[in-house]
Amino acid sequence: MKDRIVTSGFTETDIDIERSLRPQRLEDYIGQDRVKRQMTIFIQAAQKRGEPLDHVLLYGPPGLGKTTLANIIAQEMGTNIKTTSGPAIEKPGDLAAILTSLKEGDVLFIDEIHRLQRSVEEVLYPAMEDFVLDIILGKGPSAKSIRLDLPKFTLVGATTRAGLLTAPLRDRFGVVQRLELYNQSELATIISRSAEILSVNLDEKGAEELSVRSRGTPRIANRLLKRVRDFAEIEGKGIIDLETARTALELFEVDAKGLDEIDRIMLTTIVEKFDGGPVGIDTLAAAIGEERNTIEEVYEPYLIQLGYLARTPRGRVITSGGYRHLGLEPAAMQEQVKLDLEIEE
Ligand SMILES: Nc1ncnc2c1ncn2[C@@H]1O[C@H](COP(=O)(O)OP(=O)(O)OP(=O)(O)O)[C@@H](O)[C@H]1O
Ligand SMILES: [Mg+2]
Repeated sequence: MKDRIVTSGFTETDIDIERSLRPQRLEDYIGQDRVKRQMTIFIQAAQKRGEPLDHVLLYGPPGLGKTTLANIIAQEMGTNIKTTSGPAIEKPGDLAAILTSLKEGDVLFIDEIHRLQRSVEEVLYPAMEDFVLDIILGKGPSAKSIRLDLPKFTLVGATTRAGLLTAPLRDRFGVVQRLELYNQSELATIISRSAEILSVNLDEKGAEELSVRSRGTPRIANRLLKRVRDFAEIEGKGIIDLETARTALELFEVDAKGLDEIDRIMLTTIVEKFDGGPVGIDTLAAAIGEERNTIEEVYEPYLIQLGYLARTPRGRVITSGGYRHLGLEPAAMQEQVKLDLEIEE
């Protein structure tokens, strides 16, 4: 993926911003109301019983606040958090070492949990279920297995692709939360909060303009804020108002809805090469030279939220809203595609 200002993935320049802007408490975590309400109840109930929280799986597109929420959970439970990731745990012994270092009630956060090795996953099952670790001593017929008790901990797993988790792993999470793209007013609130922390001069219209171009994603909202601040300081009046936001984002090639060149290439390709679709995801990926995964995780969710693109059993289709966004007259949709769209709803 080439460097895009609107990428929802983590980039080098996000390191310092994320540290200062990441909310620490549930009350500062904006949006995701359903998730927040549920987690508040589960956390309070666990605390009342004096037990650790059930294992929690968080999933959703990049940059929506999974890592942030994992940290908040530990903070709210008043416990420590240990952070690792699926690809970082290379062998069962690595996981055993992490598990035995935990203290009662600790949160173990495993990011990209869909990338755990099978052999590592198998160590995790009894650990999650019964808080035990099975260790095999020796080899061959004389090998002996011993059981170690582990402290009661809470596993928080995060993934962008819940579908890639194995069923036995998924089933062992008591709480499964899906994070949704944020709406415009939530993003505007996030942007205003960040502006205050960073001492950036931003008015209401400026915040609104940034929010509609943030692709439903807090990480992108914060990044746009930072880039537009640079622009306002060097070429503008030092304040981010509507005009400054518009001019800056035009310069950075982020359009009125937050789409950039790659999004437009994808939509245009469906129109020009595939008559507006339906086109299979693999065919589309090949046509625009992107990975299928990247399309599914990064580009598509937002285009679908905007209603520019739809998924049908026969493939992706561009909608009339998508045509209009490209400045084109919507083409008559084939009857079958219309039917497919109705079934999907
Ligand atoms: N609900 C929220 N309220 C305010 N800011 C948020 C919220 N969610 C996320 N952010 C901001 O967005 C940034 C990115 O969030 P985070 O790193 O938690 O995303 P993620 O889902 O873990 O992404 P990835 O899939 O790439 O790991 C955070 O540093 C934080 O500043
Ligand atoms: Mg993360």
